[in-house]
Amino acid sequence: MAELTDARRVMGRCDILGAISEEPGCLTRRFATPAMGEANRVVVGWMRDAGMTVRQDNVGNLIGRYEARDPDAKTLLLGSHLDTVRDAGKYDGPLGVLVALALIERLHARGERLPFAVEVVAFADEEGLRYHTAYLGSQALTGTFDPAQLSRQDEDGVVMDEAIRAFGGDPMAIGREKRDPDTVLAYCEVHIEQGLVLDHRNLPVGVVSTIMGQSRFTVAFVGQAGHAGTVPMALRHDALCAAAEFILMAEEMARQGVGLVATVGQLDVGPGASNVIPGRAALSLDVRHIDNTVRERTSVALHKKAIEIGARRGVIVEWRQVQGSTTIACAPEINAILSRAIESLGYEVLSLPSGAGHDAVVMSTLAPVAMLFVRCKGGISHNPAESVAVEDVAVALDVLEEFVRRWGRAIVAEQG
Ligand code: HGY
Ligand code: MN
Ligand code: MN
Repeated sequence: MAELTDARRVMGRCDILGAISEEPGCLTRRFATPAMGEANRVVVGWMRDAGMTVRQDNVGNLIGRYEARDPDAKTLLLGSHLDTVRDAGKYDGPLGVLVALALIERLHARGERLPFAVEVVAFADEEGLRYHTAYLGSQALTGTFDPAQLSRQDEDGVVMDEAIRAFGGDPMAIGREKRDPDTVLAYCEVHIEQGLVLDHRNLPVGVVSTIMGQSRFTVAFVGQAGHAGTVPMALRHDALCAAAEFILMAEEMARQGVGLVATVGQLDVGPGASNVIPGRAALSLDVRHIDNTVRERTSVALHKKAIEIGARRGVIVEWRQVQGSTTIACAPEINAILSRAIESLGYEVLSLPSGAGHDAVVMSTLAPVAMLFVRCKGGISHNPAESVAVEDVAVALDVLEEFVRRWGRAIVAEQG
């Protein structure tokens, strides 16, 4: 049985961060908001106490650095994100940051340095809730941040450029956050599984093989607002009815595909009164499949169907892709070290794909990536009922420690 003291501290910190929210009574922490600033301030304190030098970069990522024995050594990046979805659980993101931090605390307590530096990165935007732009944080580190995004507006009309400045960053300097790939050993992330596989197999942790690509769109149906009492049914151009038909059609199309998922998670109806025929219905669409061709083909087919539905109903369709990422593979050579670490602690090694997106997707453009999944109860995630056992967090922390030690020994052996 793993020792639980450090894991209990991680759980307590997940509770503390879980209480830092933009909304009373639920956890919502969007990119570059005062709640995110408060979360960063709390984590800065923990990082400093763990012997790390800390900076907040120009996009708002928090980066704690623990030096290597040799100042010229490469850097292993560990971490996850501190932003959340709306009405989120406490572990999606923060757990990965806090397990990595707990590893550094162990090293620091023993005055131990590794043959590589370690940076714990708390990414500022992985979920993309505020600007429909997942991965802003990792885009900055990999030099893939597109400055055109800076003009996007949030639901209150706040432009991203202003939000970043208010958060203490300089949007014009985000390009300079790009890391030199020659100095980065790898990026590794601990994350809850957000699925049922580990739970069903009764395993505390698993090694991620691939991370599924995703395409996200905003789709607006524009019809004609009108009087609910006077416009006969046959003469209506009801935007919400068009959207409703589209949503059910997308569900059916995804059901027909193997491993295909399509989700409409947001719906905004205007003008929004019980006695007014909806003139506009805007929705979000998220399409995923492990095979990039299937995902892209499905996205095109859905667009075609939306236009057909609109044409039949006299409703205009505005279709915009707001995000896209391809399926990526985690690095087999790092997964091998992770697997040996799991085995050496007496656990079965299970390799599993991730249906959820992670910063590792973007980080893979800079360096090899790996992910360690931690079992979460019932596979529930993106839900306040997210639940993780302290015993499993203890295993994840021990595996991470064993992993860096093994890798460290291998590097020393190579250097002769
Ligand atoms: O939506 C996702 O896949 C992830 O949770 N960001
Ligand atoms: Mn998430
Ligand atoms: Mn996440």
